[in-house]
Amino acid sequence: MTNNPYTLARAAAEALKGACGLDTFDVALVMGSGWVPAADAIGETVTEIPFTDLPGFSAPAVAGHGGKIRVLRTPGGRHALVFLGRSHLYEGRGVDSVVHGVRTAAAAGVGTIVLTNAAGGLRPETQQVGDPVLISDHINMTGANPITGTTFIDLTEVYSRRLRALVQEVDPTIAEGVYVAFRGPTYETPAEIRMLRTLGGDMIGMSTVLEAIAAREAGLEVLGVSLVTNPGAGLADAPLDHEEVLQVGRATAARMGTLLAKIVDRL
Ligand code: HPA
Repeated sequence: MTNNPYTLARAAAEALKGACGLDTFDVALVMGSGWVPAADAIGETVTEIPFTDLPGFSAPAVAGHGGKIRVLRTPGGRHALVFLGRSHLYEGRGVDSVVHGVRTAAAAGVGTIVLTNAAGGLRPETQQVGDPVLISDHINMTGANPITGTTFIDLTEVYSRRLRALVQEVDPTIAEGVYVAFRGPTYETPAEIRMLRTLGGDMIGMSTVLEAIAAREAGLEVLGVSLVTNPGAGLADAPLDHEEVLQVGRATAARMGTLLAKIVDRL
């Protein structure tokens, strides 16, 4: 098997098409922790394929992160690839593993990708736990980049202005914010959270930015949505807990599912 990540993604896309009998797909959605319960609202399942059945994927290490691709048909008749789980940099399998799903989706023909995540809120003055926030831009503090070599990709508009406007037509109450990514897996210190507020961040998490870069490299239009699952460390009295992140996802599944179902046929 090749170790070229782009060739591997094309092989995964071919295997995926063969497994579900479809030739192309319209949109892909990556469901972050907290978002998996919302996937059921998006459409009717055609088939589900465990990541481990496709070249280049490995099973996610984190509880609550799923581990399969659901192929579904939306009420509007579109075919969506829904990634129930993702690979994170902190799992130690490298950057290519983190963006393999995005590259596979691009090779399978999607033109649009929705990247969702759970995030700590850096602005408790205005953010409520359980709120979705549209990602308007990001600050990549992972120290990593999925691209190697002299490919100078423009990142002026990683998260499509057009797609954000579409979502805001559907839900005018949804705010926008800048997502900061750390490698993790530790949560941040209160001093780091204060630094990120000063730097202009609005949400903090451990995913999404590398996938968004890979998606832009592949020419995809990107929509990013964070679910605020907790105030950043030190902004509230309680310590942070992964189970709390998942619990907020379960509690908001209906709202996030409705939001995604309303937007996916309009993207
Ligand atoms: N920090 C980093 N990642 C997260 C957080 C957080 O506070 N909440 C959910 N994912």
